[in-house]
Amino acid sequence: MPDNNENKNLIEQLNSKRENAQKGGGDRRIESQKKKGKLTARERLALFFDNSDYEEVDIFVQHQSKDLGLDKSVYDGDSVVTAYGFVNGRQTFAYAQDFTVLGGSLSLVAGKKIAKIMDMASKNGAPIIGFNDSGGARIQEGVDSLAGYGEVFVRNTMYSGVIPQITVIVGPSAGGAVYSPAITDFIFMVKDIGQMYITGPDVVKSVTGEEISHEDLGGSVPHATKSGVAHFVYDDESQCINAVKKLLSFLPQNNLENAKKIDGNSSDPNGEILRTIIPEKSTEPYNVIDVIDNIIDDKDFFEIQSNYAQNIVIGFGRIRGSSVGIVANQPAHMAGMLDINASDKAARFVRFCDAYNIPIVTLVDVPGFMPGVNQEHQGIIRHGAKLIYAYAEATVPKISVILRKAYGGAYIVMNSKELRSDLNLAWPTAEIAVMGPEGAVNVISRKEISESDDPQATREKLISEYKEKFSTPYIAASRGYIDDVIDPAHSRKKIANALEIFSKKYLENPPKKHGNIPL
Ligand code: HXC
Repeated sequence: MPDNNENKNLIEQLNSKRENAQKGGGDRRIESQKKKGKLTARERLALFFDNSDYEEVDIFVQHQSKDLGLDKSVYDGDSVVTAYGFVNGRQTFAYAQDFTVLGGSLSLVAGKKIAKIMDMASKNGAPIIGFNDSGGARIQEGVDSLAGYGEVFVRNTMYSGVIPQITVIVGPSAGGAVYSPAITDFIFMVKDIGQMYITGPDVVKSVTGEEISHEDLGGSVPHATKSGVAHFVYDDESQCINAVKKLLSFLPQNNLENAKKIDGNSSDPNGEILRTIIPEKSTEPYNVIDVIDNIIDDKDFFEIQSNYAQNIVIGFGRIRGSSVGIVANQPAHMAGMLDINASDKAARFVRFCDAYNIPIVTLVDVPGFMPGVNQEHQGIIRHGAKLIYAYAEATVPKISVILRKAYGGAYIVMNSKELRSDLNLAWPTAEIAVMGPEGAVNVISRKEISESDDPQATREKLISEYKEKFSTPYIAASRGYIDDVIDPAHSRKKIANALEIFSKKYLENPPKKHGNIPL
């Protein structure tokens, strides 16, 4: 292009249009966003992408609506900023809703912008990350706005299991708008800023009479501890964005790739401390994260949903530099029993790892499924079945180590040999049986106990005989259900060697449209 005056004017006009578009809803609304303690959409993207460098797409898109005064509220780019760039040096796509433009409310064109960037992410096999900060459907647009949501939801579904999808909740997310995040793989929330609910406090009050604040209804605390909707919570946006990047570092770009191996700890440090973790009394608790830390590289465990269903622990780590998903019963919480929430939490994680070629290491210490009327009536049968289904269908390398208890149905569920596990190891402290000694003796020796001269002494004698005979790993090992009984100190080395050997594992499930997991 010749550098004449007319062209100079065109460039100036372009620059000024772009500058104007980058102001979103304008200085007053940016100020109001800051007063709420929130970053702007573009500040979020700048923090997220490497060197704050990203390319914006559709910056000049405008809504075409005329109703209810919308013709007087037209902003370049509308209520969402869509962009691509590099994160951790890898191609990444993102969108950030701009609350300064009509409260980030989703118009048809905003929905189409998000759909376009999702399509780009999928075509290029790269993760998509959404920063949600929106008053929901743009009320003035009516059904057009709902159609905009539809465009997003269908892509969330179609790209599920194809490219990692992450949502960061940094503002309101109300009504049906919550369902896009809910379909994505991981939800991050920032305390006091992000809220998610189907209906806000006013509607709740008018329908049920309950009075509750926005934060108590849909803030990060209830979603991280009670509903299980949020996977991660952070105090501020910058910490949260760093955590999103860390999570991405454990993941592959898409379902056809493996996670990138990093030059990490390739040695197998002495694991003698693992010999000391299991308490002498088999009913005593211990923290399974101490076991995880001594198996993975550099004790760098990235735990997911750490405050929800704490009886099971899930998260990512690396072994000799390669990503693994870890699932572990947590004896320090409810004795590590499996209940409804733990089953859901672990099942979804197992399926995520399987979809993205991340091997799964399972650490087992489980006394069984949680008994109780509430659990039965809430559907522990249906929910527990999800975990069996998830493990059974997973074709990635699967390794289990039974640390202590593996009783009954829970033994089978936690990646037993029959669910197509690749390697099942047990520590000498493992107790593998249909049920715990006390329960077993009560059932099979009730008569003998009650008819004896000293029922208490007889009961204790029978329990001790049962323990000696059944509560060991050797019967299972003698039948090949356990591949080896190992010195706990060798756990890391054994797992690491197996992961290297199984890294080329090939296993396909029978062809089908899709299975019918008990949802
Ligand atoms: C159009 C909206 C809007 C919306 C907010 N605004 N929500 N405009 N459609 N849904 C506008 C406001 O008019 C205001 O414009 C600006 O955004 C900022 O809003 P404020 O209310 O001043 O902000 P704040 O006090 O922070 O409150 C935020 C809020 C509140 C809690 C999100 O705005 C609110 O309750 N909005 C409505 C939420 C809602 O009910 N949405 C529909 C849900 S149903 P000005 O010009 O003054 O800056 C739904 C269905 C989806 O989403 C279905 C998908 C399948």
